[in-house]
Formats: sequence, C-alpha cells, structure tokens
Amino acid sequence: MFRDIHRTNSETEITSKLLSGRTGVRITGISIPELDDSALENVRRLISDHCVAVFPSQFLVPQDQVDFVSRLGPIMVTPGVDLHPEFDNVHVVANRGKRNELFSGGFHTDTCFVPKPPSFTSLSAIEVPEHGGDTIFCNQYLAYEALSDVMKRMLKGLRLRHIPSGLDHPEEAPDSVWHPAVRTNPVTNRKALYVTYASRCVEAEGMTDVEGKTLINLLYKQSLVSHAMYRHRWSVGDFVIWDNRCTLHAAVYDHGEQSRTLYRVMCGGERPYES
Ligand code: SIN
Repeated sequence: MFRDIHRTNSETEITSKLLSGRTGVRITGISIPELDDSALENVRRLISDHCVAVFPSQFLVPQDQVDFVSRLGPIMVTPGVDLHPEFDNVHVVANRGKRNELFSGGFHTDTCFVPKPPSFTSLSAIEVPEHGGDTIFCNQYLAYEALSDVMKRMLKGLRLRHIPSGLDHPEEAPDSVWHPAVRTNPVTNRKALYVTYASRCVEAEGMTDVEGKTLINLLYKQSLVSHAMYRHRWSVGDFVIWDNRCTLHAAVYDHGEQSRTLYRVMCGGERPYES
C-alpha cells in the first residue's frame, strides 16, 4: 500500500513510501552522495510534491550534506546565526536544555525575512534523544486548498511583511521584506499558504494594524491543519529535507536535558511569487 517505485534512466531505483495520509515521503534504496542527476530530479520532485522527504540511515558527513543540497540550489545560511566552527555553510541546531519551554519552537518557514528565502532546508541527525525532540511538518498546499473561494480571492495579490526575530546576531539581518500571502511552488506549480509565526509576520499590505494582525492570525491557524501534518521521530543518521515554499515545521522541545544535535544546510530559492 502507498508504495511507488520510480525508475530513472540511469537504472537507479528509488523506493518511496508515504509517511502519512497526505504529507511526507520516505525514500530508500539510494545513497545520497552517489545520486546521479536523473535520480536527483526525481528526488527534488518527491520532496516538493510531499513537502518533506526522509532518508533513513544516510550518516552524511557535513561535506556530503553541503554537496547534496548545493545540487538543488545555491547554498545559503540564515543571516545572524552561529555556524559550525569548521563548515561555514552548516548551522548546528543544538537543542539541549529546552525543557522549560512551554511549547515547541513554533511552526515556521525558514528565513522568510530575506528577499529570496531558502527553497530547501535539510537536517542531518548527529545526536538524538532517547525520547522526544521530534520535528513536525505541515503541508501548506493543503492549508491553502482548504480555504474558501472567497478567502482565496481576497488573498490574491495580498502581501505580508516578514521581519527577522529570534536570531543570535540580529544586527546582521535585513530589516524586513514583503512576500505574497500565497505562493506558487515552481517545481509542482501548486499554490501554498505562505505565513509564519506572529513574531516574524507582522503586517498585511494596505490593511490597518488590527485587520492585518487578525488576518495573519487566522491564516496561521489555517496553516496548522492537522490532516496535513507529519511528525518525524529522529534516529541518528537520518537525513531529512523539506521544501520551505510549501511546508511549515516546528521542533518539539520535550526532551529536557537529553542532547539533540542536528546539522542544518539550506539552499536559496527564487523571490516568492503567486501566478
Ligand atoms: C529548524 O527550525 O530549522 C530546526 C528544526 C528542528 O530542530 O527540528
């Protein structure tokens, strides 16, 4: 059930299996560093179709992760975050000791406050807690498609203002940027809601402050439709990659003092547009 076999013209066989009813795909049968160009295009399509792809037991070294992601787009980092001491394209996500946080990191799309936000973000699991520390992904195609036609018409052409927040070095980040509330994914040509948490998404163009914040709040609630979620339980060696143009994600900080270390590598995308 839910099993597709994708053959490529290079004889590489990719096995993919849905991870939930609508969101997430597990890809096996390949070694990331050995992927040829044809298989890479199949993988890109699988990620963008299903929002997030999980490759178990890849155990990538940082350079392999950077090399792979750079084949999907130019490597970029979030301005204002601390990077790996030896690899300046790798952000070390270390979430030890977050037990006092009441809720998860909050659903967001990565680095939305720059003119060309990252198309893809990847994480490679270095150390994982025995229990907890999952990451949840939410499908923004479905969030958009579940809106009424009236709301879809209202959102057409509407732009939201995104600002940086929660950075190690905020002075290194740009001030703010306007992006469409709905964006078209160039890989799938499908539309997705493009909103993030309230500390980064602050204003709707042409609306009063109350109208804009109320609308953003409504859209953010809409973006978290539970039938569109996949929750990933990490194992060491997992490589997970998602398309930020159609996916929100949140880390769940329920692992207390247990170590959780993931290496994050991203690549830049296009200026968001709605067609
Ligand atoms: C992130 O928000 O980019 C990292 C997610 C995670 O730690 O699971």
